[in-house]
Amino acid sequence: MEILNLIKERRSIRKYKPIPVTNEQLNQVLESARWAPSWANTQCVKFIVIKDPDMKEKLQNTLTPRNPSREAMIQAPIVIVACAETNKAGYKEGKPTTDKNEWFMFDTALALQNLTLTAHSLGLGTVHIGAFDAKMAGSLLEIPEGIVVVELIPLGHPDITPSPTPRKELKEIVFNEKYGKR
Ligand SMILES: Cc1cc2nc3c(=O)[nH]c(=O)nc-3n(C[C@H](O)[C@H](O)[C@H](O)COP(=O)(O)O)c2cc1C
Repeated sequence: MEILNLIKERRSIRKYKPIPVTNEQLNQVLESARWAPSWANTQCVKFIVIKDPDMKEKLQNTLTPRNPSREAMIQAPIVIVACAETNKAGYKEGKPTTDKNEWFMFDTALALQNLTLTAHSLGLGTVHIGAFDAKMAGSLLEIPEGIVVVELIPLGHPDITPSPTPRKELKEIVFNEKYGKR
């Protein structure tokens, strides 16, 4: 599939069919995340693959009460938990290199963009879940010190074809030469 079409056609999938994801599909999706660029190639992003229905249910309870992806956490055969080491991206010899301390979020996003687009190219659905109690999820998953849970991503066969979601026009978000100059 052509890259721009792939990007435009990917949608958040919040309803899944009870069909398993094969190991080969899972590996391809994770492999694409592995090849994402990262700060000084420090590769701070880690993944936990959850298939156990009990753990999916426990993780579901970490979502905000009205999170529209609550059902997806149970329906999807797999939930990928994206974690990151917090003191690598943007750090040199233990000190931040820039005024932004959270480059790990950036590296995680790059990996997850690869992951979600690859899933879509295989006919699989995903949804980014950021509105949840990451500390609670971290303790359920026995995350060690220095690692945080960034996102939960259900992965499975879509049981819905959502309508396109709107985007701002280029003229609203692109300036010329200086901020605000059209
Ligand atoms: C960082 C991030 C966090 C998100 N968190 C949630 C979430 O907690 N629950 C949810 O249902 N969708 C979540 N979304 C999905 C967005 O609502 C969705 O991407 C957006 O509305 C655009 O729709 P689309 O993905 O179908 O294009 C999140 C997306 C991003 C990028």
